[in-house]
Amino acid sequence: MNKEAPIGIFDSGVGGLTVARKIFEILPSENIVYFGDVGRTPYGPRSKEIIIQFTTQDVAFLAERDVKFIVCACNSSSAVALDEIKKDYHIEMVGVIDPGARAAVEKTKNGRIGVIGTNATIGSNAYAHIIHHIDPDLKVFSLACPLFVPLVEEGYVDKDATYLIARDYLQTMLDVEIDTLVLGCTHYPLIKHVISEVMGEDVTLIDSGEETAREAQRILTESDLLNPASAQPPPPEGSRKYYVSDVPAKFSRMASRFLGHEVENITRVDISKY
Ligand code: DGL
Repeated sequence: MNKEAPIGIFDSGVGGLTVARKIFEILPSENIVYFGDVGRTPYGPRSKEIIIQFTTQDVAFLAERDVKFIVCACNSSSAVALDEIKKDYHIEMVGVIDPGARAAVEKTKNGRIGVIGTNATIGSNAYAHIIHHIDPDLKVFSLACPLFVPLVEEGYVDKDATYLIARDYLQTMLDVEIDTLVLGCTHYPLIKHVISEVMGEDVTLIDSGEETAREAQRILTESDLLNPASAQPPPPEGSRKYYVSDVPAKFSRMASRFLGHEVENITRVDISKY
């Protein structure tokens, strides 16, 4: 395997850039290819069958870019599709569910963990499954918060409406007295401050994307697949290429908010060919 080959990251759209951002921070010298399925976003409200079909195409596209490792940044894809698809490839892949679930198990003190995400992620019970696999005695409370995705995409990250909706959604989590809450959706880190204010400072918020970036670093280190450039003093910045399934303007408009800086190098692809 070529250690200089890029890491492939994909998501249903722009949200996966919250995961890419963490990977850029932790593994700055890695070359990155990002695919955002902006033409077919969102995945969260869709059926398992459709999410598997879309995710299969996303992975096939990245595999053709000769990536050395694939990160499925989308919680909905990781929850319902990744395990099925992984079997067909020799490329190592990581999704966001396992790292997020493991971090929650490590953090909880009272054994009561909340999980929030899209309808697909929560309907799959994927987080609860992994958490119970690690420790069957833990209590898991899962809740779909589908309005958070459009609110974040519309830039409603500090509006009263967002606080109002968050209070309404999260009251059930307050009632069951969780001490750890998994942010099981790519978009939620952008409203972490809102969720944190509603839940209070005693509840630890787990950012699955951040945990996944650390997991990617661990796997690449253990498999001796880190780009040798990372050992150079000072380490050079890797290349970043973005591919999208709709006009690049739609992606670049939102991307800077998710990533913290402007995005260049965006190419449109016809994902239906994969
Ligand atoms: N990326 C999706 C996720 O993390 C959220 C957006 C969508 O529904 O496509 O589940």
